[in-house]
Amino acid sequence: MGKIILTGDRPTGKLHVGHYVGSLRRRVELQNSGEYDRIFIMIADAQALTDNADNPEKIRQNVIEVALDYLSVGLDPAKSNLFVQSYVSELTEMTFYYMNLVTVARLQRNPTVKNEILMRGFQNTLPVGFFTYPVSQTADITAFKATTVPVGEDQLPMIEQAREIVRKFNQIYGDVLVEPDAMLSDNKACLRLPGIDGKAKMSKSLGNCIYLSDPADEVQKKIMSMFTDPNHLKVSDPGQVEGNPVFTYLDAFCKDEHFERYFPDYANLDEMKAHYTRGGLGDVKIKRFLNSVMQEELEPIRKRRKEYEKDIPEVYNILKKGSDIAREAAAETLAEMKAAMKINYFDDAELIAEQARKFREE
Ligand code: TRP
Repeated sequence: MGKIILTGDRPTGKLHVGHYVGSLRRRVELQNSGEYDRIFIMIADAQALTDNADNPEKIRQNVIEVALDYLSVGLDPAKSNLFVQSYVSELTEMTFYYMNLVTVARLQRNPTVKNEILMRGFQNTLPVGFFTYPVSQTADITAFKATTVPVGEDQLPMIEQAREIVRKFNQIYGDVLVEPDAMLSDNKACLRLPGIDGKAKMSKSLGNCIYLSDPADEVQKKIMSMFTDPNHLKVSDPGQVEGNPVFTYLDAFCKDEHFERYFPDYANLDEMKAHYTRGGLGDVKIKRFLNSVMQEELEPIRKRRKEYEKDIPEVYNILKKGSDIAREAAAETLAEMKAAMKINYFDDAELIAEQARKFREE
């Protein structure tokens, strides 16, 4: 059995640079490493509907946005199956059976879901579908027998939940499912890129995101307006690197070679940080440098996006083809599951013969 990747994103908005450093960039590397037998990248529209049931148009609009984001960062449909969750109805069927293997108390302990319930003000209006989305996410992962799930840190509780369900299923019904491993970024700055306002997380509702699809001048404007160390008033003042978003972004994006090209005063980020900490290095300079570094990485992404935007029907075609392949894979796993669960009555000739014998003898 090979190495298989499954991961995905909810299409509730365009993807931003936090998604990029936290997961997308890694996916492209994994895709191009040649180490994986199959790669499935899912646009989780059904999951997005669990807290957007009354706003289907928003999800519909963002499916194509996320598809364009995927293609523009370099996910290659020849190597990675890009697909739409709702098309693969086997996933909903699996979810129904997995629900029998999880308790309400266990779902209530999921810290990510807990936090999301609070943020959405769902205390008294929690949709059952939203509450159970970790179970549906288990279906997403196990349907493809994924071994590896590259995700951001907030998704770790989902992977843990999936592992528990897999163990329970296999223990009761026999060895059918594969226990997945989460794969996190090894760069700490990439785990959670703050917003440009310094808030802990980039989020559309806070308006503090840099989107992959932002034009160059917009990116520059956002970088130049970034929050820095509020006590670094004069250039000569000592500055703080820790918790300073400009440096967190540099940790996530910058390599030594960028200094040669854009800021030869320093050999590497450590030297630059040391100068900032001592005092004498202004915020405008560090922001200009960050802008050069980020534009270099984002420019090819924007270019690829422009190309795909010229042929939107082809983008839908890519998703449809990927979805057909995903569906075939999921159907295979579901058939195995149903056989193991003894609910495969009509393709079990032995069962029919056995029952016939039993009733003849009665
Ligand atoms: N919950 C993920 C997110 O919010 C999206 C997702 C759905 C996912 N199913 C998945 C991620 C399966 C990894 C594996 O971005």
